[in-house]
Amino acid sequence: MNKKLIIANWKMNPTSEKEAEKIFLSISSGIKNLKNKDVIICPPDIFLSKLKSFKNKKIILGAQDLSIFENGSHTGEISTKMLSDFGVSFVIVGHSERRAIGETNKIVNLKLKNILKNSLNAILCIGEQTRDNDGHYLSFIGSQLKSCLHDIPKSKIKNIIIAYEPIWAVGKDATREATPDEFVEVKIFIKKVLVDIYNAKVAQSATIIYGGSANPKNTKMFIEQGEADGVLVGRDSLNPKNFLEIINQVK
Ligand code: PGA
Repeated sequence: MNKKLIIANWKMNPTSEKEAEKIFLSISSGIKNLKNKDVIICPPDIFLSKLKSFKNKKIILGAQDLSIFENGSHTGEISTKMLSDFGVSFVIVGHSERRAIGETNKIVNLKLKNILKNSLNAILCIGEQTRDNDGHYLSFIGSQLKSCLHDIPKSKIKNIIIAYEPIWAVGKDATREATPDEFVEVKIFIKKVLVDIYNAKVAQSATIIYGGSANPKNTKMFIEQGEADGVLVGRDSLNPKNFLEIINQVK
């Protein structure tokens, strides 16, 4: 994967359209050089229309979730077809904050299939809650990945970005930051799992990014030492100055 990805997950922020507009415009006006990188912003769906109206070519819009259903009587849900018709091309699935409110690997798998069926790209989040010294976290990640990818053909893996997000490093309650070495270990392990499910070619071409307290100080290390294909950024993506610094770390 040549192009690096810098993906913003705004989560349930900010509280108003005006603020969303301000953050988006500050980021877009500060982006200088997009050679070898793509910037994707996933705001709450309610702001997508406003942000799309700026017709900004430097930023790709994404969504944070989607329904497992295709259409019909499902109050509160947004379908993949709606997202695709709107022009969204990336959708986050399996984020730990959604898993914490009951999203299972089975649900993530159904959502992934919906995304792929509608020719969109998925940002599939996986990661363990805690670390141990016996490598149990690796088997947890392996079975999580296998279940999420159940029955997904190898030809579709190019449309899935795998985001390794150790839960202990995500958000303001993170116990500590992950290190590039920890990312490398898991990245190699993910590739091994992909060899088991598919083959070496699929594993080699898979896009694997890092997420969890990615910030202007550590992004370069994850990209250069960790050889991450990009970063998924939460808190710092709402701060235009920090997010622009992160974008600029990616050469
Ligand atoms: P964080 O969030 O950067 O605030 O840790 C990352 C994420 O949840 O995707």
